[in-house]
Amino acid sequence: MARFGSRISLPVLSSYLALLLLTVASPALAAKKNLFKTCDSSPFCRRNREYADAASCVKSSIWDPPYYIDPLTVSFDSGLLQGSIFKTIPDADTPIEFPFQLVFLESGSVRFLVDEKQRAQASRLPGFPDNLTQRRYNEASKWAVVGDLTPDDSASESSTAEQRAEGVFKIKYGPEKHFEAILSCKPFRIEFFRDGEAHVVLNDRGLLNMDHWQPEPPASTDTNKNEQNEFAEDKEEETQDTKQQPIEAKGAPTSSEWQDKFGGFTDKKPKGPEAIALDITFPSYEHVFGIPEHADKFSLRETRGGEGNHDQPYRLYNVDIFEYEVDSPMAMYGAIPFMQAHKKSSSVGVFWANGADTWIDIIKSEPADNAFSLRKSTKTHWMSESGVLDVYVMLGPDASSVYQQYGALTGYTALPPIYALGYHQCRWNYNSEEDVLEVDAGFDEHEIPYDVIWLDIEYTEGKKYFTWWKSMFPTPEKMMQTLAKRKRKLVAIIDPHIKKETGYKVYENMSKNELAIKTSEGKEYNGWCWPGESAWIDTFSPKAIDYWKDQFKLGKFCGSEPNLLIWNDMNEPSVFNGPEVSAPRDDIHFGNFEHRDVHNIYGMTFVNATVQALQARQPRQRPFVLTRAFFAGSQRLGAVWTGDNAAKWEYLQIALPMILSHGVAGFGFVGADVGGFFGNPTPELLTRWYQAGAFYPFFRGHAHIESKRREPWLFGEPYTSLLRNAIRMRYQLLPSIYTAFHRASFEGVPVVRPMFLLAPDNEDALGIDDQFFFGETGLLVKPIVEEGKTETDIYIPDDEIYFDYLDQTIYQGIGYHHIDAPLDKIPILARGGHILVRRDRYRRSSSLMNHDPFTLVIHLDKTGNAAGVLYLDDGETTAHARGAYLYRFFIFNAQDNILRSRSMQPTNQNIKSYEKTIDTVRIERIIVVGFDKTQLKKSGAVESFQDRKSWLTEIDVTEAGDGKASVIVVRDPKVVVTGDWSIQF
Ligand code: GLC
Repeated sequence: MARFGSRISLPVLSSYLALLLLTVASPALAAKKNLFKTCDSSPFCRRNREYADAASCVKSSIWDPPYYIDPLTVSFDSGLLQGSIFKTIPDADTPIEFPFQLVFLESGSVRFLVDEKQRAQASRLPGFPDNLTQRRYNEASKWAVVGDLTPDDSASESSTAEQRAEGVFKIKYGPEKHFEAILSCKPFRIEFFRDGEAHVVLNDRGLLNMDHWQPEPPASTDTNKNEQNEFAEDKEEETQDTKQQPIEAKGAPTSSEWQDKFGGFTDKKPKGPEAIALDITFPSYEHVFGIPEHADKFSLRETRGGEGNHDQPYRLYNVDIFEYEVDSPMAMYGAIPFMQAHKKSSSVGVFWANGADTWIDIIKSEPADNAFSLRKSTKTHWMSESGVLDVYVMLGPDASSVYQQYGALTGYTALPPIYALGYHQCRWNYNSEEDVLEVDAGFDEHEIPYDVIWLDIEYTEGKKYFTWWKSMFPTPEKMMQTLAKRKRKLVAIIDPHIKKETGYKVYENMSKNELAIKTSEGKEYNGWCWPGESAWIDTFSPKAIDYWKDQFKLGKFCGSEPNLLIWNDMNEPSVFNGPEVSAPRDDIHFGNFEHRDVHNIYGMTFVNATVQALQARQPRQRPFVLTRAFFAGSQRLGAVWTGDNAAKWEYLQIALPMILSHGVAGFGFVGADVGGFFGNPTPELLTRWYQAGAFYPFFRGHAHIESKRREPWLFGEPYTSLLRNAIRMRYQLLPSIYTAFHRASFEGVPVVRPMFLLAPDNEDALGIDDQFFFGETGLLVKPIVEEGKTETDIYIPDDEIYFDYLDQTIYQGIGYHHIDAPLDKIPILARGGHILVRRDRYRRSSSLMNHDPFTLVIHLDKTGNAAGVLYLDDGETTAHARGAYLYRFFIFNAQDNILRSRSMQPTNQNIKSYEKTIDTVRIERIIVVGFDKTQLKKSGAVESFQDRKSWLTEIDVTEAGDGKASVIVVRDPKVVVTGDWSIQF
């Protein structure tokens, strides 16, 4: 019920009566199960699962899958191995042909692409619907991949003529030809080796399965076995019927699959069943990660039952799953079909470029008796409803390389404007201009920094985007100008549903120019969302993108100002009265593709249009757009949050594993609604949430319209101070956070980092997902996420020395260490060897810190060394892309006890012009933890050198003792951040 807040029109309410009753009458879980499919109620998933089960019952030496490659079709030239896979059909004379390509890319990844010949090449298949594109959808890569897909012609064939004749083709590729792909024709499989060891195997279990085009068989018109309510009975019948079938037949669609009924909706499936499936094995890898979005553990569980496991596959299908369940493989708002496998000192990745409904089964098998390794292997089974089969394999060898390889394909996190990394204050809704400005003033009054205040859907006139609710927001420009004077921004929500209303020009022109998603009959698709009856802009269409861009122009988007940024919500798309709360699968998009083909990509195309719109209106500014729905590649466009959580401890707990999963799948600019969206947090929960949220890459407080107000000062003391401290700690660390985002923007390394990034050899730490390393800082953070807890055990994953970040207590040794965590403490250890950069002065917002001096905090490692980086630019414009930035490397060398600052960038005109703007910015303080003062060259002082001058600065020393490390503080060493300098300790 809570979902439908105030100001909902009566027709909307009546239209959802059934859904509401369902929600009220039964627990949330039951409602969810009725609203959203399970594998059993998804025909292609159920069938491919049954096929897998049948195949696994047969000994692999006997299982003879119907798919094979004819070696005579295979050729290799200039980095491209190609040929045809054939599928034998019982009682048919000719097999079905699926041409494939194995492309060895210059970036070191390999692309395996399989199409269906008759859909791709036949001029017009008899019975194929005229209004649809006949070929399988093959543009998921077009949207997701921005990297170079040209083959690497240095890849070379290593198979002998004899091997080729036997149907075995070997290709060496990658850096110094360390990688090798071995394709076997029958049984068909592809193994990927690194340095002689197989790391990824495609079709290891022979579960490749691609439906081929067949006109609808006569039987399906009157029987439908997929009506959800009748399902249980039908399954029983079908099992009886099919028990005796050969396994191949179990993989083939039955006549019922030409139409799918679910939840009272009928999907007409005019192109018939078109599913694809393939199994992918990671030999000797016990842990796999990624495939967001799921509210589940970071290390993915098995999905075929058993204690602690799921009994459903992980599903990728963008849906508005409000009040989502935790610890679930159910689909959520976004989909990134990227999976990483990690084991001791090795990481690999797989990207399944498909935007249709996708299910992924995971099992872990015991090592074979004769296996070389004693580890379990992870075996995955990927099933998508439609499209071509398009898989990319990345062989690492380490996690950072996998992220780099995935980023080389799908792009990296766009470097955000720095204000986007500050604190965001949101709720549904700030009700008027006065309300906004009062909240804004409240932050200053309580000396809490923040950067952005947000407006949810109620700011509009009747949920018509690009309009303002005049009585509450009569002068939005003035409101924004006031915020701008305080160096703050406003984010307003703009969703893809456009209210169908006569006189509303945004709708009328979109409709007139046919820029909306269409029904299977080619008419404008209408459904219900916040505004009532609406149409959805089809941002696959270039014309629709242009139209969208036009709406945002300053001057046209009345009342908007340069400090207005955008929030794109409900872009799964969420359709309240649609199947699975989304658009019907047989809707049609630009290019005459069905919605089913592009469902998971749609949300990204919408954000893409918004980002283009912001870029067009302010070309020199970096855009900021927050999205709820996403796909592979969305990281190039902005930030994401984990949707409608609740003010309960389990949602605080699950947020971190979710953030880790997003991060390894390339979309690291992510956060969860701090405080919990639904309901009302206790002061303790809110405090712990701010303490955790201060380390989320995207840090926003948000709340449902029916929840009580909870701006950070409303609970009074001690909570106001606790929340202030957490937010201020975020602002202190902004230089380091920005630096970490900069690294993510060209190397893909996430900001919130799992244990294996710093301790890749420690397999015991692979399942740990309640603590993380924060960016480049070396900080190991373990937020408290349980009620009433005032102590915790933090796991140190390597044998480096660690220090309590707040009181310098020394911790060392792999394993758990006890640490106190009263309500005013966030458990944080600093790993020796890192230099982090802070700005310690309180300012109202991030841009007011631009000229503040820096503090360097140095935690020396076991050998007395440490290093760190600082990336800095103007924080808002695109000038950094033309070289206007500062990139410095700090190193503390134990051999001479000198701290040095060196530039890491080529000198050019733009650096100089940027440097001029900050050439008075000093390093005001240097804190060195773990330095033995007897090593000081001059007792009581350090000597600084910059610009051929030198001078002495006195130091404060806190002696080591009582389990704590010594601390040396150099106050105002008078070195400026722009130049090279050194300091002799
Ligand atoms: C959706 C969003 C939520 C927002 C609400 C109203 O539920 O997930 O954040 O407040 O819509 O726009």
